[in-house]
Amino acid sequence: MASAWKAERVRSATTTIFAEMSALAVSTGSVNLGQGFPDTDGPAFMLDEARAAIAAGVNQYPPGRGIAPLRQAIAAHSRRHYGLEYDPDTEVLVTTGATEALAAAILAFVDPGDEVVALEPFYDSYAASIDLAGGKRVGVGVFGPEFRLDHAELAAAFSSRTKLVLLNSPHNPTGVVLDRADLTEVARLAVAHDVLVVCDEVYEHLVFDDAEHLPLATLPGMRERTIRISSSGKTFSATGWKIGWALGPAELVGEVTAVKQFLTYVSGAPFQPAVARALDEGDAWVEGNRRSLQGKRDRLAAGLRSVGLEPVLPRGTYFLTTDVRPLGYADGVEFCRDLPRRCGVVAIPHQVFYDDLEAGRPYVRWAFCKQDEVLDEAVRRLARLREPRAAGLAERVG
Ligand SMILES: Cc1ncc(COP(=O)(O)O)c(C=O)c1O
Repeated sequence: MASAWKAERVRSATTTIFAEMSALAVSTGSVNLGQGFPDTDGPAFMLDEARAAIAAGVNQYPPGRGIAPLRQAIAAHSRRHYGLEYDPDTEVLVTTGATEALAAAILAFVDPGDEVVALEPFYDSYAASIDLAGGKRVGVGVFGPEFRLDHAELAAAFSSRTKLVLLNSPHNPTGVVLDRADLTEVARLAVAHDVLVVCDEVYEHLVFDDAEHLPLATLPGMRERTIRISSSGKTFSATGWKIGWALGPAELVGEVTAVKQFLTYVSGAPFQPAVARALDEGDAWVEGNRRSLQGKRDRLAAGLRSVGLEPVLPRGTYFLTTDVRPLGYADGVEFCRDLPRRCGVVAIPHQVFYDDLEAGRPYVRWAFCKQDEVLDEAVRRLARLREPRAAGLAERVG
């Protein structure tokens, strides 16, 4: 229960479901397909570079905006992959993960009462950061079973109070990758309503099959009103390093920087040169990782199908979704609370990402950024789902 001292402004900041489920995974010895972190390391040369930086004494405060080689590498990466130019000195900011960049951007631009339009389900830090700023989130449902953006619903979400659009593509938890038609509509509405757009592109390189990640900022009229946010955590399998960044016009990045100074000021000194090198030299590693993840997606999808769970194949991210109703559960939360004891596996209920709880109720998210043996072991354990529910539970507990 929340403390009576708790500020109203932070009402949505409670212990995250990820912490709860990860703790449950440890206490039950479960295979953890809940929280989205890989169980293998990023490129060896990047890890070596961080070790060398620590040994060389790169252990004090880096510059407020991040070290110049990293800002240059971030700008060069943007130019190389998308043809989007940013000035490393004025239009690039290194942050403590994408999470800090998102929080700083929302705090920089959202006043109490302002509306923030975002795709629902939302990544969990969005609600907390919007609440901190006193803003109001307005969800645009990307709901099952289709998980598609409805353009009429998107248009209806805008009002005279809209200040900002928070756009996550590739989208966690659904795996949706917005296409050019979707982005063209977002751009049209952003210009018509004269609002800013913050793009959360942390899964920019994790796209599968024929899907392509297209930054909104490449569309006409969008670069000047868009902040692009990404992170080395997902791209280089180093979620614990928390090296993220924001890119945008100097005026906007300046405002994000002003807020960021008083959140963490700076972080990750020895990781910054390592991520700079990974951005400069790691394209082949990133492509290999993407291909490997596509194989893992298909491996887990086949396994889930074999136990009676039909997956929604994601076109991006490292999560896939199943509807748990065919197994006799109406509710993903109940399923995920049962699962560690019944099968020894942890997953995340979609509901925690929704304001509209009914829309998320039957869905569960599974992370497939794990070693093949781990995925296979999870599927082996999930075979218990084929047994009658009470019998499975009795056997495990007894
Ligand atoms: C959509 C989305 N945005 C942001 C983040 C956080 O990124 P970071 O760990 O770099 O703060 C995540 C992490 O899971 C995410 O899924």
